Amino acid sequence: MEKIHVGTGRSYDVYIGRGILENVGSCLKESGAGKAVLVCGENVFPLYAEKINLALEKEGFKVFDFIIEPGEASKSLETYGKLLEFLCEKELTRSDMLIALGGGVTGDLTGFAAATYQRGIGFIQIPTTLLAMVDSSVGGKTAVNLSGGKNRAGAFWQPSAVLCDPDTLRTLPEREYRSGMAEVIKYGVLGSRAFFDELAGDIPCSHEHIIGTCVKMKRDIVAEDEFDTGKRRLLNLGHSFGHAIEALSEFKMTHGEAVSAGTAIIARASAAMGYMAESEAGSIIKCLKKYGLPTETGYSKEEIERFVRMDKKLSGDTISLAVPREIGSCDIIGVPLGDIPRWLSLGGVK
Ligand code: NAD
Ligand code: GLY
Repeated sequence: MEKIHVGTGRSYDVYIGRGILENVGSCLKESGAGKAVLVCGENVFPLYAEKINLALEKEGFKVFDFIIEPGEASKSLETYGKLLEFLCEKELTRSDMLIALGGGVTGDLTGFAAATYQRGIGFIQIPTTLLAMVDSSVGGKTAVNLSGGKNRAGAFWQPSAVLCDPDTLRTLPEREYRSGMAEVIKYGVLGSRAFFDELAGDIPCSHEHIIGTCVKMKRDIVAEDEFDTGKRRLLNLGHSFGHAIEALSEFKMTHGEAVSAGTAIIARASAAMGYMAESEAGSIIKCLKKYGLPTETGYSKEEIERFVRMDKKLSGDTISLAVPREIGSCDIIGVPLGDIPRWLSLGGVK
């Protein structure tokens, strides 16, 4: 088992190891909590929840289950409100904890409830999608969506621990696995050519290696910029256009698919503007395609621009875009909103 320490204000460990779910009770024993509420999607619940409930009960926890509908629609004020009421009903106190078992939707929702219930109680992330293991479970961004935009209500609230069991990926649908690869490739593009070359190459990487590499890269970034005022914005590579495309698809595209299209657009635009060699953009797009990810969008410049204007990375009339300079190196560039159509055009958007 690998243990990666995340040195944020409230620090914690990420444990990565096959079969870790069997030992979840002993991993959490030190938390001292008496009650735990396990939040889980109804499709993941029959796969892994019983194992976790039993392990926790063996260590003396009283466990209550809160089951949500799978999908982005559950990252809502409505589900969030129901979860808070459930915590009240079960009389959770500040010394108790929440457990998020599932993908990024479950983790973001549970984390936001944990951040705000009684002004904050502990929570554990047990990510079961590749995307959640490599990205959303680490770093403490929690949120729900509003009708006015994705992740519009949220808080920075670090988990008390993250437990990644790569064996859970065996039941993950292929499409969701590929979506996670979009975030994995993002790490290579923004910070490590060696890792990118491994992903683009012919020898398959183990899940442990992929997850460990991404978590260490994210750990280094969030330890330096926990509250997203500088370097952490690099993690937004592909997201400014990606979030817009995801919302335009009414969430029929997965987060990872939309991020992939967004990454391809910004790579093309960067090359067209002379920030990056054409061949580098070509390699990024080829790698995304290798994992069956989209590199184009049918949405128009005008449609995407409309959603970019709702992005949280907006400050006045300027948006911070993460722009690749070469594979393994990326800059944050402040782009006036009026220039966004040109960037999209150069990125291949009609
Ligand atoms: P998701 O949470 O919707 O999970 C995808 C689907 O897979 C769901 O139906 C889920 O129930 C199912 N599932 C999960 N694990 C499974 C398993 N092991 N076997 C079978 N089915 C399984 O999607 P996601 O891609 O994990 O997360 C996307 C969300 O994460 C978005 O809302 C995005 O905004 C958010 N996100 C947050 C951060 C952050 O830093 N907080 C970072 C990236 C993405
Ligand atoms: N996923 C982007 C971040 O954590 O900042």
